[in-house]
Amino acid sequence: MAFSAYPDPVAAEAPIGIFDSGIGALSVLRHVTSRLPSDHVLCFADSGNAPYGGKTDAEIIERVLAIAAFLQTKKVKAIVVACNTATAAAIEALRQHYPEQIVVGVEPGVKPAAVFSKTGKAGVLATSSTIASNRFKALCDRITATTGVEILAQACPGLVDKIENGELDSPETIAMVESFVLPLLKNGADTIALGCTHYPFVEPLINAIAQRESKEAVTIIDTGEAVARQLERLLQQRGLQRLVGDPGRIEAYTTGSAASLRRAFADLLGLHPEVTALDSGESIKTSE
Ligand code: DGL
Repeated sequence: MAFSAYPDPVAAEAPIGIFDSGIGALSVLRHVTSRLPSDHVLCFADSGNAPYGGKTDAEIIERVLAIAAFLQTKKVKAIVVACNTATAAAIEALRQHYPEQIVVGVEPGVKPAAVFSKTGKAGVLATSSTIASNRFKALCDRITATTGVEILAQACPGLVDKIENGELDSPETIAMVESFVLPLLKNGADTIALGCTHYPFVEPLINAIAQRESKEAVTIIDTGEAVARQLERLLQQRGLQRLVGDPGRIEAYTTGSAASLRRAFADLLGLHPEVTALDSGESIKTSE
């Protein structure tokens, strides 16, 4: 791997900012902290404004730029957009505003889903906004053109809310996930990409349904690890990876309830970071 910069231990002390509309940030954060255990991480969950899935592009861009402005006040060395919906709608705007900043987005895993498919049909679960986005359509067209694999996209309205509420295996969530996964299996998908960072938290449920319904093995793809790898590459290129041996700190902010985010960290990751609640989305913008 090429290193274009010497390590800069002072600049490396700055945190990595990871944000999502909500607790989807945690499914990416767990891969980042396992790959970069010495790095400090600042996690921002915009739960007071979740879900992003039904919002317009203009609304999502406004939220993303407000969060990025807040992260700048914390002097982050990189921004991870741990949200497929925000990546699709707003990553270009974010890069234009902060051309010097390391910005890593998430893609819905269409490419690995196509590569692993033996049936020639790959499923993707995502929010309605992601599926309606030009970025997603262009990605699917490109992958189908290069691999010949048909992409079956399934929107999952309501699922982000269930996961935000901690209902990972309630009867309603099970029925909801079945209604999204069964059509993909019925239409021949043997791979399912999790195109929303909330969905890895219901991966065991998706897996159980797939195993029950499908004779063939179904591969489920979570892109969190690929995001962490890309982040590591970019930090190394600029000499910004924190290399000292002691573990990095995690601090968290939310526009929702601090108690809920604390619970999510404890229940989903077994972590107990300091969590600060911000009054509202507006207060973030004015704190710039
Ligand atoms: N975790 C977000 C994503 O990856 C969820 C979007 C939403 O809030 O609807 O798309």
